[in-house]
Amino acid sequence: MIRFQGLEKRFADVRVLTGISLEVSQGEIYGLIGPNGAGKTTTFRIAAGLLRPTAGTVQVAGVDVAAAPEQAKARLGFSTGSAGLYGRLTAREQLEYFGELHRMSAARLRQRIDEVAEALDLGRLLDRRCERLSTGEKQRVAIARAMLHDPPVLILDEPTSGLDVLAGRFLRDYVLRARDQGKAILFSSHYLAEAELLCDRVGFLHKGSLVREGRPLDLKTELEAATLEETFLKLIAGASSSPGPASP
Ligand SMILES: Nc1ncnc2c1ncn2[C@@H]1O[C@H](COP(=O)(O)OP(=O)(O)OP(=O)(O)O)[C@@H](O)[C@H]1O
Ligand SMILES: [Mg+2]
Repeated sequence: MIRFQGLEKRFADVRVLTGISLEVSQGEIYGLIGPNGAGKTTTFRIAAGLLRPTAGTVQVAGVDVAAAPEQAKARLGFSTGSAGLYGRLTAREQLEYFGELHRMSAARLRQRIDEVAEALDLGRLLDRRCERLSTGEKQRVAIARAMLHDPPVLILDEPTSGLDVLAGRFLRDYVLRARDQGKAILFSSHYLAEAELLCDRVGFLHKGSLVREGRPLDLKTELEAATLEETFLKLIAGASSSPGPASP
């Protein structure tokens, strides 16, 4: 459903991604795990067509992002925190604006706003200005916006950061339902307990390289770790003691 092949990214002469290849299938949740600065958001921005890779390709539901950006965007929902919400618009206006960008018909747009509002429990938030919403409320609006055109592939960059226990659980349940509807979901999180609960597979990104990927249970067994967090710490320790591909 979404496939990255040999993705590299340099900013000036700094190599930020060093050949990422990964694939997320329909009905699968894949967690990209990595410390601050590992390259998660950069990977996602390339998939969303917001950044050009230095080398490599991304295909979204069979469409190459560089060759056919508009078709690729139509198949992808991308949310990165609450960034990019227009504060002065209400949540509903926000959704209407994005629906128009996606060239949805008025009837389809009304129907989808009802659906995403229901799924993300937006109800009474719909007619409030985004700048007055709380972090968790904004996060839900941002995800509603990403889902509005009902894309088969979803990329969620730290969707639960800053959320309280209940809101975090609500979002996780939402992601699980989306998976059960057949979406391919790629997300990042700094909460490894959450990734362990949610992900069918995880990939550990360290200094721009995918150092290991697999099912959480298999990785824990292989690294003789009790939790995914311990697995991650062991992998990072191992990766740091040998020269990584990102090193000069
Ligand atoms: N536009 C840019 N110009 C130069 N360097 C950049 C740019 N965008 C990102 N970087 C660098 O690329 C590296 C990876 O950044 P990225 O935002 O992808 O990390 P991340 O894994 O999402 O981290 P976090 O967990 O903190 O969100 C960082 O060292 C960052 O400083
Ligand atoms: Mg990031």
